Amino acid sequence: MSKEGFTLWFTGWSGAGKTTIAMAIEEELKKRKMGYVQRLDGDLVREYLCHDLGFSKEDRNENIRRATFVAEMLSKNGVITLVSFISPYRSLREYARIRCHNFTEIYVKCDRDILIERDVKGLYKKALANEISEFTGISDPYEEPLNPELVLDTGKEEVSESVNKVIKYLYEEQLI
Ligand SMILES: Nc1ncnc2c1ncn2[C@@H]1O[C@H](COP(=O)(O)OP(=O)(O)OP(=O)(O)O)[C@@H](O)[C@H]1O
Ligand SMILES: [Mg+2]
Repeated sequence: MSKEGFTLWFTGWSGAGKTTIAMAIEEELKKRKMGYVQRLDGDLVREYLCHDLGFSKEDRNENIRRATFVAEMLSKNGVITLVSFISPYRSLREYARIRCHNFTEIYVKCDRDILIERDVKGLYKKALANEISEFTGISDPYEEPLNPELVLDTGKEEVSESVNKVIKYLYEEQLI
């Protein structure tokens, strides 16, 4: 069992692997019976909780404010909370850091060329062809984390390697 709730906040460009890694960690923590785990994923939150929001800076920030509100309640009440949002703006990640319990920022990094090649959702192709605007990394800013607790380079490491790094960190920090 984990001693208390904590928050793993995955940030990074689209397709970098935030959802993939958060899902694998959820599985790993459940297998180890570490307690209640709840994932908050950008795609699902946008569909249900933030349906009214778009991708302007104001809307992206409001999206993160709402996600933070939920993550704060969960993590303060003993739930292991895994949050995967592009969350491109530093100030809003700092806002989340202050509020969420035991906040760990994980920068899920990947070279742009690899992301364009992966193009899981077909969005890079569209963004590069100017078919979608406000696309992070192509036509919208991404402010790199300055002091993330962890950096995972998914262009260089396997999913299992990234997961192991996170689990090791959680043991070191005595969060699990
Ligand atoms: N080491 C790795 N870690 C994570 N994902 C990887 C890795 N290597 C390859 N991939 C692949 O990269 C893709 C990552 O997509 P994923 O949906 O997890 O990204 P995301 O960061 O959640 O993007 P979005 O912001 O659009 O939701 C998956 O298809 C995954 O299989
Ligand atoms: Mg995702």
